[in-house]
Amino acid sequence: MPKLTYLGHDAFLLEAAKHRLIFDPYLTDNPLAVTDPKDVRVDYVLLTHGHGDHVGDALDIAKANNATIIAPFELATYCSRKGCQVHAMHIGGSYRFPFGRVKLTIAHHGSGLDLGGDALAYMGNPCGFLVTLDGKTLYHAGDTGLFMDMKLIGEMNPLDVALLPIGGNFTMDIDDAVKAAEFLQAKLTIPMHYGTFDVIEANPHEFREKVAKLGLRSCVLDIQESLEF
Ligand code: NI
Ligand code: MN
Repeated sequence: MPKLTYLGHDAFLLEAAKHRLIFDPYLTDNPLAVTDPKDVRVDYVLLTHGHGDHVGDALDIAKANNATIIAPFELATYCSRKGCQVHAMHIGGSYRFPFGRVKLTIAHHGSGLDLGGDALAYMGNPCGFLVTLDGKTLYHAGDTGLFMDMKLIGEMNPLDVALLPIGGNFTMDIDDAVKAAEFLQAKLTIPMHYGTFDVIEANPHEFREKVAKLGLRSCVLDIQESLEF
């Protein structure tokens, strides 16, 4: 069974039978994260978009592990120029990796990477990830507003786990994320992207209770907490 560990914000470690993946490893600069990026051992780094709270320690982790970064083309190209091994993809595209299948979904958001000074680099479209491995399918929504196609994503990909942002301001808030959970119909929904900064304060237990009223299961993971699915 794949094992999922919450590292804070949108960062998750996903351990399959033979491979280890990390999503959006925002660790060093995340005031709530406790994982030292130097301790991360992974084969793949999946990046949803170019914002600093998602790219985080990705370049260092990828280099230290000789891991491959999987990201939308523009962001992957940037990481490649920074010396990382990459696999570029784009929305709607899927690819079978040694660990399983990855498909990129839409996400309604931005993807500029702040390079300091006046420089803000365009990193293409943001995305979400559908990852199927060891017979299970996980959806990491990335940063996004609510969109109707989540219904289609759920219909076409029976989901074991859905990771949804609930913090508002930059993404869906709790009520929009509850509607997303209803569209997706995942066996288990886990909230993310809340509480890291003041503007995205949200009570994940309010989300869990509202999702429960729809007859759906959700679970609030503490930072460093794991579950198998
Ligand atoms: Ni973002
Ligand atoms: Mn974000």
